[in-house]
Amino acid sequence: MTDDLRRLAAANRDYVVALRRHFHTYPELSTKEFKTQERIVAELAALGLAPLKAAGTGVVADIKGARPGRTVAVRADMDALPIADECRRPYQSQNPGVCHACGHDGHMAMLLGLARVLLPLRTGLAGTVRLIFQPNEEMPPGSAIALIEEGFLDGVDAIIGAHLWQPLPVGQLGLSFGRMMAQPGAFAIVIRGKGAHGSSPHVAVDPILVGSQVVQGLHTIVSRSIDPLEPVVVSVGVFQAGSVYNVIPETARLEGTIRVFDEETLAAVHRRIEQIVKGVCAANGAEYQFSTAPSCPPLVNDAAVVRRVWRAGAAVLGEAGVSEVKPVLGGEDFSYFLKKIPGAFMFVGAGNAAKGIVHPHHHPGFDIDEDALTYGVEILARSAVDLLAAEL
Ligand code: NI
Repeated sequence: MTDDLRRLAAANRDYVVALRRHFHTYPELSTKEFKTQERIVAELAALGLAPLKAAGTGVVADIKGARPGRTVAVRADMDALPIADECRRPYQSQNPGVCHACGHDGHMAMLLGLARVLLPLRTGLAGTVRLIFQPNEEMPPGSAIALIEEGFLDGVDAIIGAHLWQPLPVGQLGLSFGRMMAQPGAFAIVIRGKGAHGSSPHVAVDPILVGSQVVQGLHTIVSRSIDPLEPVVVSVGVFQAGSVYNVIPETARLEGTIRVFDEETLAAVHRRIEQIVKGVCAANGAEYQFSTAPSCPPLVNDAAVVRRVWRAGAAVLGEAGVSEVKPVLGGEDFSYFLKKIPGAFMFVGAGNAAKGIVHPHHHPGFDIDEDALTYGVEILARSAVDLLAAEL
């Protein structure tokens, strides 16, 4: 069967590339993937599968082997970004201000390619491969939760997902045996002081000064409140106050982001932020509001599943093509699936400096080396078949 997987992945190359270009030309934003959903349903139905609409604009379809067995899910995300496409290729976005600048166009195309690779081999398969096309990955907390609530993970033994990854050269597969992506957290602080003319600071409570002390205080959290062996980021990205040079304003607004690899650590950081804000404001006679936004959990792979994906990757790319990658501080709501069942997320190398494919994810000039798609299809196929075959 493994020879067939290589042959079928190669045979479907043009199909996968054409679909990726179609999705790139007509990108849709998170939760608005209507046309994308329609196309996926049509492609799957044409293969004789019975696709179901899921989580609003998502799609789920099962490929059932000839014999009963385990169920393995493979997930692709579907949404594009509110970015103007500057890739300057024939398949440049025709939806102004919307762009597949993260590679999700390729993820969908690879999953449809996987269906075309596995279907002819169905008689040799025991168990079910569930194809999950997930809408809305980019808008926190994402739609993975909705898919779980709708029951699409019930009875699934393991799940895998791939992200085309520009920082890795094409022909490489990046894996992590545990922590792979961070939990992103967002916070906002409003400091309310007392406005006055700049010439009379003694009658004011200056929110700019208070806010400055708060920012200084927040930067002690990582250095003085967190175990030095635990990676954490606290960054303030917004500090807004005042509009006139000689007036002390009433309020200041701070916003920032947090990155952690552990949910308890995030709770600890939130507690410390509020303690600092509360203490600084009390010392200065100011008031405050503190709020946090919901976010997806950290993405932690299952080592046993990763070992199988590693083997699949090595079969496709050679041993030298697979490597362990350092955890990334971006977030990814595939993490919700991994909290429920064993699984693995993988980075499929898609960069190629020689071809000018150098722009990072979410950049207006982002593109992928399309050779990555065929590798991705074969790696997903081999991983899925291997995961069906045996207990973890
Ligand atoms: Ni992405």
